Amino acid sequence: MQLPELKIGHLKPRFPIVQGGMSIKVSTASLVAAVARCGGIGVIGGTGISLDELREEIRTARRLSQNQGIIGVNIMYAAREFMQLVKTAISERIDVIFTGAGFSREVFNECKQSQTPVVSIVSSSRAAVLAEKSGAAAVVAEGCEAGGHLGTDRSIKEILPEIKSAVKIPVIAAGGITDGYDMAEMIRLGADGVQIATRFLLSEECDVAEEYKQVYLNARPEDVIIVKSPVGLPGRAIRNAFTDLIAAGEAPLAEECSACLRHCSGDYCIKEALLNARDGKVNEGLIFSGANVHKIKSILPVAQIFQNILLEYSLA
Ligand SMILES: Cc1cc2nc3c(=O)[nH]c(=O)nc-3n(C[C@H](O)[C@H](O)[C@H](O)COP(=O)(O)O)c2cc1C
Repeated sequence: MQLPELKIGHLKPRFPIVQGGMSIKVSTASLVAAVARCGGIGVIGGTGISLDELREEIRTARRLSQNQGIIGVNIMYAAREFMQLVKTAISERIDVIFTGAGFSREVFNECKQSQTPVVSIVSSSRAAVLAEKSGAAAVVAEGCEAGGHLGTDRSIKEILPEIKSAVKIPVIAAGGITDGYDMAEMIRLGADGVQIATRFLLSEECDVAEEYKQVYLNARPEDVIIVKSPVGLPGRAIRNAFTDLIAAGEAPLAEECSACLRHCSGDYCIKEALLNARDGKVNEGLIFSGANVHKIKSILPVAQIFQNILLEYSLA
């Protein structure tokens, strides 16, 4: 089966593969640049970092990719600094902006002026239609197999055909895709491209702590659970001492709250929990992960991950 051509506004990546944005500080410049160089779309996790940090990540990613390929940023609407982060990314001439976890009309107005394509992350055909009407260049259809915050409890295999038939803009499938066989299944179901995150975290270029990657490599299917997030959405993560504390209502609050979210339930500090995991304090951290992490058994260079996916796709 031929690879589809993914078009997001004026952008045409060599391969229809988006590396899903991962916050906080999981998809940073080194991973993003490697994906862009390989012909996919590399996406910086832009939530939970300062405006200066975002500016620096974009500049470093451009430098590492030698200005080749397409670089995007993923910013969650739930972030208090959402619009400032969007404006910062635009001022750094980011190629594309991915937004999820809420909806903003303002982002479309802002991006229209700079002609920056916006891709909305949605989990229903209703949200996809709203995104298309508002001016989205494409949507990511994200099923319940995805890591991080979830907008649905339905499988990508159920929602993808519904979303595809509801809109004319390209639909990128996300959630649980770990190899070229999974990718082929999504393309057969109508996807114009795929977004993959967990597989790319287990790459040499992803610069989270080794301890984080080891938790992924040891994960069994039953270890991946749904947790409550202070954002007000369920989240998919790997069960550990920290998620047991969340379940018991005993997870710690921040020593100093930076008011990073528009609305925070105040149950625990998700920023600190995600940064702890990223830095290797895995038992005090929240380890977001896709449902199919158990299928991935190796840490590989991004170029090898691309080669494998494309080979498997051609065999599927
Ligand atoms: C560690 C981690 C962090 C994530 N952070 C974000 C985020 O900040 N914003 C977002 O829209 N999605 C986030 N996601 C979701 C991914 O971008 C992606 O859509 C999803 O994980 C795809 O499923 P997969 O991981 O099974 O490939 C995150 C996922 C993971 C695993």
